[in-house]
Order: sequence, then structure tokens, then C-alpha cells
Amino acid sequence: MQPVQQYIHENKGRFLEELLELLRIPSISADPAYKGEVRRAAEYVAESLRKSGADRVEIIETGGHPVVYGEKITAPDLPTVMVYGHYDVQPPDPLDLWTTGPFEPEIRKTPLHPEGAIFARGSADDKGQFFMHLKAFEAMSANGPLPCNIKFMIEGEEEVGSANLEGFLKAHAGRLKCDVILVSDTHMIARDVPSITVGLRGLSYVEVEVQGPNRDLHSGLYGGAVANPINILAKMIASLHDENNHIAIPGFYDDVEVVAPAERKAMNEAPYDEEAYKKELDIRMVHGEAGFTTLERTAIRPTLDVNGIWGGYTGEGAKTVLPAKAFAKISMRLVPHQDPEKITELFAAHFKTIAPPSVKVQVRYHHGGYPVVTPTDTPEYLAAHKAMETTFGKAPIPQRGGGSIPIVALFENILGVKTVLMGFGLDTDSIHSPNEHYGLFFFFKGIETIPHFYQYYAELKKD
Ligand code: BES
Ligand code: MN
Ligand code: MN
Repeated sequence: MQPVQQYIHENKGRFLEELLELLRIPSISADPAYKGEVRRAAEYVAESLRKSGADRVEIIETGGHPVVYGEKITAPDLPTVMVYGHYDVQPPDPLDLWTTGPFEPEIRKTPLHPEGAIFARGSADDKGQFFMHLKAFEAMSANGPLPCNIKFMIEGEEEVGSANLEGFLKAHAGRLKCDVILVSDTHMIARDVPSITVGLRGLSYVEVEVQGPNRDLHSGLYGGAVANPINILAKMIASLHDENNHIAIPGFYDDVEVVAPAERKAMNEAPYDEEAYKKELDIRMVHGEAGFTTLERTAIRPTLDVNGIWGGYTGEGAKTVLPAKAFAKISMRLVPHQDPEKITELFAAHFKTIAPPSVKVQVRYHHGGYPVVTPTDTPEYLAAHKAMETTFGKAPIPQRGGGSIPIVALFENILGVKTVLMGFGLDTDSIHSPNEHYGLFFFFKGIETIPHFYQYYAELKKD
């Protein structure tokens, strides 16, 4: 391991420069105007893979944004690890809340990152994190034979739901054959509290439209006599939670996994400081489902949130108008045994039921994904555990994550392969928010840790 770590140490500056170059490409998958930039990012990743020592590097078309593939097959009898990540990013808006441009990476110190953090969209989610794998791979390739065969699958549509990936996995199942999938696209508890993510929530994402009259009306002439779709939508949305912040859709909780008291107890023993949590967010009180702690609410309980709501006049000054339509985007985070399709149907049926006859409603489905729980008694979990223990000097603890990575359930269902979620971010990295950043400590610690994973994994698979 020594020469690998030595190589990493000597090339730190270049690794960082290369990441900054990738962060300058605005690969916003949600916005069709950035299609070319998304492709440019794919090309940059492909070129990086080639330079890092990968073979058969290819940009594979998917019907949406392409997947970048590359591999290094050392020997047929070695275990094969496939690294998954995504080179697309979330839209950076609201732009005026960024201290520096979202695609002009700048390194600044913060209290949590005394050695500096890279401020840029995608720095933590997920460019900075998958790039650690490319550089760890480069360091290993440059220093003798690899302990495992390695494949890379870096996609460009994760932030818009990976809709084309099911077809991609089916079409390329042969080439993607592997023993385990390794992902760094989650976070750990703190720099002195390493953790491994052992669960992800599923997702059902819908958009609703409430139609009142056939056109915008004068709110003085018609107001009070014709249903205002924004008023109605606000009331409908408010009714989706009861006074205990329980989701009020009939059947919503039917399949929810009941977590055993012992597991809940263990979960709540993870280091967590509610005062610090509130202070960091500048809130007086946390808010959520009665009977559950914050750690439980963000890991083992489902949620329903409005992500955006619009309609009517939102420009300068005041316009008196009774709008014809109102809209909202609503996401539901799901936990084990909940099925996104079933939940979407329950939502749609309920939403139509609660709409008063004065309006018409439509529910459109955007995307979804199944929840996952990853086992902690597998060679890959143990390898990740030992790798982090080696470089952090402390055993990592398992923790379920609140976010979603829809492809992880598909890896298991289509390829029959389990995933290990070894993320190196922090939950305070502001992913999806203005001023997203990724600590240099974490970037380099990740590069340092990954080679140990392969070493331990190969050893554990041998016996
Ligand atoms: N990397 C995140 C998911 C994540 C972050 C999981 C931290 C656990 C901890 C991923 O890029 C993401 O943002 N996923 C989306 C889902 C997608 C369908 C838009 C999400 O969770 O909202
Ligand atoms: Mn991500
Ligand atoms: Mn994301």
C-alpha cells in the first residue's frame, strides 16, 4: 500500500486541479439548454478514465444523457468491483445566494473545513466524490497490479431520476457483470465520526395541477364566487398531514417497515446534537412526525413534501387576479416495503377525492425509485468498514440515509448485485442548495481510503 499512498501524496495538487476543471462544466441534467455541457462533462470523465489507466473507455448512449464506462480487468479469477457515480448536477438556482459562481470553483475555509472546502455545484454531489475513485484507481494502476478487477459506470441523469438506466442495465448486463457495486454519493456523520450508509429512501415524485375557471379573472369581479385554484390547492396540500404530522393518505403506511425497538435504540445512539442541528439551520424547533426522533424521521419514516408551488401573479408589485390554475411539485420519500408505483396511485386517487367539485385536478408522475437497505455482514461492508477504520483511525458506524439513489435498487433487481455506500461528504455540504461545497480533507481522505477497500475486499473474497 505504501507506494500507492506515496503516489497520492505526491499528486494531490494535480488531482485537485483536475477536479476543479470538471466542476467548471455546468452539467445540469434537468435543463435541456445544458445538453451540450452535460456531454462535455461525459467527455471529460471519459478522458480522465483513459488517463487514469482504464481500458475500453466508452461514452454509451442511453436515449437521455450518456453513461461513461471504463474498466480494468486484471485477471478473470479476481473479484470485480463496479464503481457507480453521476457526473450530472442539480440546477444551481437561486443564483444570487451563491457567494461565488456555482461553476467557478473556489476554495475557502469554513469552521467545519479548516483546510478549505471547494465551493461549486456538484463538488460534493457527486463530482468530487466519484472523482476520488478515478484518482484512487490511477494511483493503484500506476503502482502494480490491482487487487480487483474494476469497472466504472458514471451516469448523467441521476439528478433527474435515472429514467433511462433500467433499459441501460438490461441492454449491457453482460458488460456490467460484477460482484459488488461501490458508490460514494452519500455522507458520513462527521469527520471524527465515520459512518457507512446502509439504507436509502425510495421516492415517488408527482406534479399536480388544479384548474379553476377557464381563464385568469379579475379578482374583484369574480373573487368570492369562483373557486381560486391557489386557495384550493393550499388547502388540499395542508390536509395531507394531520395534527401529528402523519401523512393523511389512506393506505400510505400500510406497507411501512416496522423497525424493531432494538434497532431504533441503536439508531438513536449515533452521535447527534439537536441544539447544533437547530443552530446550523437557524430554526427554533424541529418539526416532524409525532413519536419519532429527528434521526428516525430522516431515515426510517416516509415523508411528503412540497418542493415547489406556483400559479397566478408573482411579478413586481400587485396585480389583482383570480388565477385559472395552480401547480405544485410533491415528493414522497419511501421506506422499505413501500412500492413507489402503489404510493403514486394512492396519492393520485386521494388527491382527486379531496378536490372540491369547483375545480379539476390532474396528477402527473415524474419519477420514482425503490428504497434499499444494505446488509452489514457481507465482505463488501466489512471491507468498507476496515478501509475507513484504517484511514480514520476509528471504526465507522452504520447509518441509514434519508436521500435516494434510484439505481441502487435496480442494481439488485436487474443485475442481482448488492451495493456498498461508502460516502465521504457531510450533511452540511449544502448539496442541492446554494454554496454547495466539499471539504478538501474529505476529498483526499476518500482517495486514501478507497485503495484499502479493494485490498480488503480481495482478501475477504479469497476466504
Ligand atoms: N447523492 C444524492 C442522494 C443522497 C445524498 C443520498 C445524501 C443519501 C445521502 C443524490 O444525488 C440525490 O440527490 N438523489 C435525489 C433523487 C433523484 C431521483 C432526484 C434525491 O434524493 O432527491
Ligand atoms: Mn448524488
Ligand atoms: Mn443529488
